[in-house]
Amino acid sequence: MAESYMKNRTMKMYLMFLFAFTVLIVQANSKPAISTIYEFPSGVSLENIAIDSSRNSILVTSDNTPSLFQISFPIHPHANASARIIHAFPNATGLLGITKYAPDTFAVIVGNFSIAHFGQDTFFSVWSIKFFDKGCSHNAELKFEVQKIADIPQARMLNGMASLDEASKAVLIGDSLAGCVYRLCILSGEVKVVLNDETMKPDDTPGGPISLRSVALNGIRKVTIVNAHDHGNDTYLYYSNSNKTTINRVLIDALTGHALGPFTTLTTNGGGLSPDDLAYDYNSGDVYFAGHMDDVIVRVGSNGKETVVEHVIAPSSLMFEAREQSRILYCTTAGGSKDGTRRGAGKLLAIHLDD
Ligand SMILES: *[C@@H]1O[C@H](CO)[C@@H](O)[C@H](O)[C@H]1NC(C)=O
Ligand SMILES: *[C@@H]1O[C@H](CO)[C@@H](O)[C@H](O)[C@H]1NC(C)=O
Ligand SMILES: *[C@@H]1O[C@H](CO)[C@@H](O)[C@H](O)[C@H]1NC(C)=O
Ligand SMILES: *[C@@H]1O[C@H](CO)[C@@H](O)[C@H](O)[C@H]1NC(C)=O
Ligand SMILES: *[C@@H]1O[C@H](CO)[C@@H](O)[C@H](O)[C@H]1NC(C)=O
Repeated sequence: MAESYMKNRTMKMYLMFLFAFTVLIVQANSKPAISTIYEFPSGVSLENIAIDSSRNSILVTSDNTPSLFQISFPIHPHANASARIIHAFPNATGLLGITKYAPDTFAVIVGNFSIAHFGQDTFFSVWSIKFFDKGCSHNAELKFEVQKIADIPQARMLNGMASLDEASKAVLIGDSLAGCVYRLCILSGEVKVVLNDETMKPDDTPGGPISLRSVALNGIRKVTIVNAHDHGNDTYLYYSNSNKTTINRVLIDALTGHALGPFTTLTTNGGGLSPDDLAYDYNSGDVYFAGHMDDVIVRVGSNGKETVVEHVIAPSSLMFEAREQSRILYCTTAGGSKDGTRRGAGKLLAIHLDD
């Protein structure tokens, strides 16, 4: 628990962060399938997402900016969303996974890493952000506290994060190159490997070159499903493997994170679209993933079949709106460029599923 900052200089930060591009654009389709909630200036690549219903806002991370952003929904129906920097982390190049692990409290992965020298000389830590105000994300003074939870020197390339049951006071963190999941105890800062399986690792040629294409374990999501037999809760970790192009799941202990069943691959096509982060649909049992490399959003049915449901440039993460039965899937995008072509800025989108 090294550093602690108390923040209440919201207005100042607000002014420092005057991004003028906020529009609600409904695409010119017959049905309003996708709307842009917020578009960042070019150069900000969004990476991950957490919904903060208490402040009517969404927190997003960027993998090429060491700042945590808060995007606030407008108070008035025809106004634009706004964004501001909540906190800029020292000694970091970018942020990765973010998850709510207690009321009003989020954990975020802070990293020093380079895309050009991917996987070399990386350094990661995990920090917590605790908010003290409710319901007032706009011009009000926003009080929150930022604290380091732990350094994770053994990490090779941290990526996704998911909370375990609140009683555990712990989060799970995926390592994309080591191909394993760590459990981080929030109170003690203790880190240990709790899940380690071939389905989380790259298809490696040992000693071969490491690049972005080596990223294996990517998104991780905790999914709690009522067991039809004993009406107790079954907790699964759903996870994507970008390198192996699979979506997988494993039954876990909701407190320790240890596996209670086999590691199962759900996708059956074996070698199609490469998933970035994913979201579980409690309505249907389907999984949606961000097909970052292929510019698609894909639905994986319970039979393992993949269906492209939307075309989105460089989608990075997905999360359903917190409301029960919601059909709104929030999506972050990385923007950037590909094959020398500019592909716009990072965005927060809302995809309205019409299933
Ligand atoms: C929302 O943003 C757009 C584009 O910047 C602007 O034209 C419009 O006036 C804004 N609307 C409001 C209510 O501020
Ligand atoms: C940033 O890194 C430098 C060099 O490693 C170190 O001296 C300094 O204490 C770090 N600052 C913070 C806030 O971690
Ligand atoms: C970030 O990593 C690079 C490469 O290892 C290192 O040179 C640099 O000192 C690190 N920065 C900080 C502030 O720790
Ligand atoms: C998987 O990673 C290996 C290197 O670790 C790389 O050679 C291979 O091309 C990657 N596969 C895909 C589908 O990106
Ligand atoms: C099962 O999970 C639900 C929702 O998270 C929770 O309200 C309920 O108390 C849990 N039941 C048991 C037996 O743990």
